[in-house]
Amino acid sequence: MSSTEARGSWGSRVGFILAAAGSAIGLGNIWGFPTRVGQGGGAVFVLVYLACVFLVCAPILMAELAVGRASRRSPVGALRVLLPGTRWWVVGALGVLAGVGILSFYAVIAGWTLAYVYFSASGTLTSVPAGELFARFTANGPLTTGLALIILALTAAILWKGVQGGIERASRAMMPALFVLLVVLAARALTLPGASAGIAYYLRPDPSKLLDPRIVSTALGQAFFSLSLGMGTMITYGSYMRRADSIAVGALWVVVLDTAIALLAGFVVFPAGFSIPGFDPASSGTGLIFTVLPRLFGSMPGGHLFGAAFFLLLVLAALTSTISLLEVPVAYLIDEHGWTRHRAVAAVTALTFVLATPSALSNGASAALTRLPGLGMGFLDLMAHLWNDFALPLGGVLLSVVVGYAWGIDCALDELRAEGARMPGARLWGGLIRYLCPVAIGGILLGAVLG
Ligand code: TRP
Repeated sequence: MSSTEARGSWGSRVGFILAAAGSAIGLGNIWGFPTRVGQGGGAVFVLVYLACVFLVCAPILMAELAVGRASRRSPVGALRVLLPGTRWWVVGALGVLAGVGILSFYAVIAGWTLAYVYFSASGTLTSVPAGELFARFTANGPLTTGLALIILALTAAILWKGVQGGIERASRAMMPALFVLLVVLAARALTLPGASAGIAYYLRPDPSKLLDPRIVSTALGQAFFSLSLGMGTMITYGSYMRRADSIAVGALWVVVLDTAIALLAGFVVFPAGFSIPGFDPASSGTGLIFTVLPRLFGSMPGGHLFGAAFFLLLVLAALTSTISLLEVPVAYLIDEHGWTRHRAVAAVTALTFVLATPSALSNGASAALTRLPGLGMGFLDLMAHLWNDFALPLGGVLLSVVVGYAWGIDCALDELRAEGARMPGARLWGGLIRYLCPVAIGGILLGAVLG
């Protein structure tokens, strides 16, 4: 068996696209995107987000995949192989930490979604006022901690056996179902009274918000998060890619699918939200989809089944993402420290659970964690802010410098053009990686740090 076969590789081009799209599509699209559109001022945020996706994130996605496939290693090893004798492996190490950090709060929210499968099916969702249910439920510390543990255990169980077969198969069945269900829900939401105000909010830019730099930094953080960039997930997934498959084509598919699902989620949430009298998207925070969607389900015949199906698909979408988050630290311990897969999975899962507990308790269960002294936000929000808005963009800047200058555009292009793959716009790609990506991300990051 060659070393490539021993590490495993995707079964086909479609297999890679589904797995990478499975990583990308998750809570970030359906929970995070509408929440941040709401906090960031509607259509202006959407426009800035799209610019970030196509000008900054798509080139970085290709760069991460190229680094992974050229080195056939997970992030720390990848940079050691490509740039021996340098300290660039630190960028990979940042990704390993980010994997644990992001998963720690992601698992809590995925746990909420799991509970909402039950709340929908049992009819609780449409009989109790949605805001009250959400507030009471998330303040239940033992319950939300237990649910996060279930999510982590499911994630660990899948990785325990290795990934490919499971991820590829799960994604293949789940993605089309999620897409179809979102289209049905959007169709219903758009016919609710008040829906047009939601559409206007979502699609008609408010010029007074155009130059708010916070919107740019949040949009970029959200785009990085949604595409699973900036922490080496895509380096790891790229390392399982076959040389015969075009990186550019694969990356384009992932970007288009991920963005389409996020935009679609907005067409469900905003029309449904604005059909509620007095709805204010900015003040809903993390609870946005959990408080708005029950109203939508309540307005539909068989709504509790639609609700249960929706939250179940969301749990599955979240699981294909949690797998990819846990896989980065796990692959690191296996590749660089010679741990067995089982030991690595057990250790990283336990560590993540310890860090997840304060996030689970920060939504009303513990007053101090719910409103951190001096910060005015809860522990979960702080985690989301630190990892999405700082760590991932920092990883992105460093990666574009690694690929643009240290490893070099020419080496990267050799990988992108492997086995005669077509790479239209190669010079444009190189320019974006060398100049636009580091300058734009670095500038925004600096602005965010300076406050
Ligand atoms: N992209 C996923 C989502 O939108 C979450 C995710 C998975 C992620 N892997 C990641 C985010 C790596 C950042 C980095 O839900």
